[in-house]
Order: sequence, then C-alpha cells, then structure tokens
Amino acid sequence: MKLWEKGINPEPAIIEFTAGRDRKTDLHLTKWDIVGSMAHVIMLGDVGLISSDERNEMLKALHSLFVWDEKGSLVIEKDVEDIHSQIEKEMASILGTTGRKIHTGRSRNDQVLVDIRLYMREEIDNLAHQMQKLFSRLQSLSDQYREVLLPGYTHMQPAMPSSFGLWFGSYAECLADDLLVLSAARALNNRNPLGTAAGFGTTLPLNRKLTSELLEFDDLLYNSAYASLSRGKVEMAIASALASVAQTLGRFSMDICLYMTAEFRFIDFPDEYVTGSSIMPQKRNPDVFELIRGRSNVIQALPNEIAMLISNLPSGYNRDLQLLKQIVFDAFDDVKECMEIMLLMLNNIKVRRNITDNTLYNTIFSTEEVNRLVKQGIPFRDAYKAVADIVKNGPFSRTSVNDYVHEGSIGNLCNEEIASIFSERMKCFKNKSAGELADKMMGYVK
Ligand code: ARG
Repeated sequence: MKLWEKGINPEPAIIEFTAGRDRKTDLHLTKWDIVGSMAHVIMLGDVGLISSDERNEMLKALHSLFVWDEKGSLVIEKDVEDIHSQIEKEMASILGTTGRKIHTGRSRNDQVLVDIRLYMREEIDNLAHQMQKLFSRLQSLSDQYREVLLPGYTHMQPAMPSSFGLWFGSYAECLADDLLVLSAARALNNRNPLGTAAGFGTTLPLNRKLTSELLEFDDLLYNSAYASLSRGKVEMAIASALASVAQTLGRFSMDICLYMTAEFRFIDFPDEYVTGSSIMPQKRNPDVFELIRGRSNVIQALPNEIAMLISNLPSGYNRDLQLLKQIVFDAFDDVKECMEIMLLMLNNIKVRRNITDNTLYNTIFSTEEVNRLVKQGIPFRDAYKAVADIVKNGPFSRTSVNDYVHEGSIGNLCNEEIASIFSERMKCFKNKSAGELADKMMGYVK
C-alpha cells in the first residue's frame, strides 16, 4: 500500500530503495506520530473539518494504536513505506471512512517534521538529565579529592600544582557549558511545523496555534516554506550540541588514558573494569576510554556530515532529507552509551595520593616561590629571574601549597557557583512524555 498510489503498480525495487531503512528507523517515531495525529485530529474538530463524533472516534482509535505500540505490537508492514503510511492504514482499517480523514490538511512532509522534533525534544531532555548525573558525579569527586594534589601540565610538561578537585571540577564546568549549547538547540527545535503541509500551507482553515499548544511547543514555525528549510538546520544545531558534549567526553577520556599509563599512574580502576591482552599477561588496558574517545571523535564529524547532506539542496522538500533521521538518531544513542559507561567508570575510579611528593615535580612549585617574593615587594620580573636561577643551578626546595584563594583556583574551586549555573540551565529540559501528552489529548473526547 502506498499513500500515493494512483492505479499504477510501483516497481518493487524502487519502493525498496526509496523506503531505505525507514521501516526500522521510523519505529523511533511511532508514538510521536500518534501523538501528533491526536493533536491534528483535535484541531480538525475545532475548526469544523470533522464532526465531534468523528474526532472522538479518531482519538480513541489513535489511543488504541498508542497502547499497541507500547506493547510492541505495532510494526511497519512489508508493503508499507513508513510509519506515517502505517498509522493511516491502521486508522482506515479500524474506522473505515472516518479513519481515512486523518490526513486532511497535512502532508507527510510536515508530519515527519513534527514527529522528528517531538522525538528529538525527548532525546535532548533525556540527554540533559544524563549530563546532570555525570555532572554531579564529577562535582562530588572534585569535592572529595579537593585536597589531593596533581601536577598540572602545559605543553605536556609539568607546570604548576593542580589538584584532583580542579581536574574533576573542570570537566563538570565543561558540561555546564555543553548544557547551554544543548538548550539553544532545544529552543530551536521546540517550534511547531505541523500545518505547513507539503511546505506551502493549505486552503483548509487550520488552527496551527492550537496544535502548538496541544503539543507543548514554545511557538509555531511560522513560514511554511521555512518549515521545510528547517529540516537539517535544526538537526545541525543539535549535532553541534552533541559534538560539544562528545568533545568533553573525548578529552576527558584522553586524560584518563594518559593518567593510567605506567609512567603517570595518577589514577586506576579495579581489575574488573580494565581489559587484558591475549598475548601479554601483564596488560591492564583502558579500552573503555579509548572507545569513548574514538566514538566521540566520530560524533564530532556529525555537523559536517549534515552540512554535506543539506548544503546544496534547493528549498522545498527533497528526499535526501530522509537520510538525516538515521544519522541523528544513532548519534543520540552513541552519546547516551558513552555517558552511561563513563558514569559507571567514574563510580569506580581510584585516585593516587602524594603524587607531587616525587622530586620529579619539585619545580612545579617554582611559580609559587616567585609569588612569595612578590608578596615581599620584589618586582615580579626580578623575582622570576632569581627563582629561575635557583631552578637552573639548584637546589630548589619547594614551599607548601596553601595560599590559593582566588575564585577557580585549587584553594577555592567555586563548585557551588558552578552547580547553581548548571541547575539554572537545567530548567528548560522538562518534556512531557508521549504517554502524558496522549492522556491529555484523550481529555478532548466528549
Ligand atoms: N520518509 C520520508 C522522510 O523521512 C517521509 C516524507 C515523505 N515525503 C515525500 N514527499 N515523499 O522524509
């Protein structure tokens, strides 16, 4: 069955190729297609394009499909192109003539747009909550190891005293900024394309504000032609946010791989959390972090992949856009899996104490020695030269680390301030689930 069948039997190879992976990918959209259809039906009733009896019957039928889907019984059949066609087919078979009214005033073009936006809204919100868990873990590690020193490196050379508090806390604040990027992508995503039909509106008197309210969008996407153009644009913004998170995960993983080497050994994990070699009995490898690093790098290519896909497309709907679904949906899964395993690892991380007692790190205290002289009134440049001399000709003896006081230094991490920035930024990630929206719409059955 093809929604666009007009008496000519389509060549099966063409159907298979054009449906592509949609029969599988679209299953991510099923519940959202149903919820979007419920809002559409309520609106059709409101503007008088269907009767209130028809609205009630259609809402009940859509709700029964929702329940089917939750039980896992709703599938896209072999001869059906996509989820939109399958839902329409189900509606026709449950309700006959009334069911066939479901597509009044819409196109699969705006239907898929609204489905994807609802799906991505939920994924974004779930991701934000996952980020919150990782953030909290990083902050509690930072608090727990606030006093444990670590040599800080620049140019991969020992530089100044750092601490596990500063290191863990730095990735927490990194996530706070990733969250801001994600919230911008969410705002871009959270506008309603439903009612723009094929990209040129319709002569039917739709009430687009009503569907926007029902689906809890912030506003409409107003210009119908822009709604088509926005496909890819919003995915690109989301991909940039995913890339930003991935970069944080990737760089943190690189630090961990480095800090786990025999030469550094700043941190470690229990034997159950590292991997071995088939030939070298001594190996304890950080494969988890290498894979997070690799997968994060691949995710960072996503904005570019999307740009390649959409850059030269003319305005209006083009089938190329279908390919966006798979790559973006997979990227959400990738980030999710990496975050999960990262959290598991951080729940088991072991930190080595007294690292900076090693004389190798003596000179990381030389800047402090310069500052000690500065506090006695010696000009910085003179103090720097005097200490440089001692460092070169020795012996340089370190002073203790106890006077880091300014915001963001090892003595004053400001974790509370960072936490309040994070929770402020979390406020926008508050989706209703598809089930909650469906229940709300059932309230319109009178
Ligand atoms: N599977 C299609 C997609 O994801 C649905 C829209 C089809 N529209 C069309 N004009 N062929 O883009």
